[in-house]
Amino acid sequence: MSRIKIIGTGSYLPEKILTNLDLEKIVDTTDEWISTRTGIKERRITDENTAVSDLMTEASKKAIEMANIPLSEIDGIIAGTITPDMMFPATACIIQKNLGIKNKFAFDLSAGCSGFIYALEVANNFIKSGNYKNLLVIGGETLTKITNWSDRNTCVLFGDGAGAVVVTESSDDSGVLSSMIGAAGEYGDLLYQPAGGSRMPASKETIEKNLHTVVMQGSEVFQHAVRSMQSAGEEVIKAAGITSDDIDIFIPHQANIRILQSTAKRLKIPIEKVYINIDKYANTSAGTLPIALDQAVRSNEIKKGDIILFDVFGAGLTWGAAIVRW
Ligand code: ACO
Repeated sequence: MSRIKIIGTGSYLPEKILTNLDLEKIVDTTDEWISTRTGIKERRITDENTAVSDLMTEASKKAIEMANIPLSEIDGIIAGTITPDMMFPATACIIQKNLGIKNKFAFDLSAGCSGFIYALEVANNFIKSGNYKNLLVIGGETLTKITNWSDRNTCVLFGDGAGAVVVTESSDDSGVLSSMIGAAGEYGDLLYQPAGGSRMPASKETIEKNLHTVVMQGSEVFQHAVRSMQSAGEEVIKAAGITSDDIDIFIPHQANIRILQSTAKRLKIPIEKVYINIDKYANTSAGTLPIALDQAVRSNEIKKGDIILFDVFGAGLTWGAAIVRW
């Protein structure tokens, strides 16, 4: 077995829409600023009763249905998220219970927005080891639950949503042709959630100071994003033995339209080949790639044999990319 392939995709987005006009009433911002600086028009948000496992469970059901394999043949679950239902048990274990999968491994993986590609890379190597055949790989977030709604620098950027895929051994020429993941922990303080872990446990003071929400140096993250997405993209293109011209669809992390445009230009991929849904869903972190993939598959924008480039960066800082032949 030389590679793995994706045999099912699914996604789930909460119904409630928060538009830029709604945000104008919450912070000192405008639809015009958000649209031109980020490409975002609206985003989906969960209600108080919904957690990330609920979104991930629904996305997983759709992916498993498309894969058309019995639950008993799913050998394990890997969930990429930085907004788990709780610190423990793992959100993947909650999803396992929700789906009714028994006696298989389930764990979470924290890699910021790169969570899905990290999880796919782990699944890739687990399956290649010969110990597992079919794995459920999920990426999703409820970032609006850790958003500081008084910080206009961050609160306009995020949305909630989840996507999932079922991966298995490939017996033909389709599948993951190349992949990579990377990290630069020295830049961790550019994008982080200060409180709630063992460094700064929850207290009255952390809550009063809003320290359980996202803190970000936006323009520094922007510069790292473009550089790391370019180098990750170039690396997997080269490793797959193809050129930019061979790419049929580019699915980048949906963080900011200007990051997508800049990365596509640096990788010499025409903007018409870039899958963009940031206008509707904003940045769903680990959810962006599997949600975009599922939407592109279900709307027949991806055909058998197409070459897909995935490319992402996130908190950590982390990054990752993959070339997939559909
Ligand atoms: N409305 C109006 N004005 C705003 C807003 C807003 N929502 N947000 C910031 N501004 C202002 C700033 O205060 C600043 O004003 P000043 O010049 O008076 O100080 C001005 O706009 C410019 O701010 P910049 O930060 O320089 O704006 P920039 O063009 O860099 O855009 C942005 C900011 C959108 C955050 C951009 O830097 C970006 O997208 N960065 C990457 C973010 C990202 O992708 N993060 C990944 C996180 S996902 C994860 O892993 C959890």
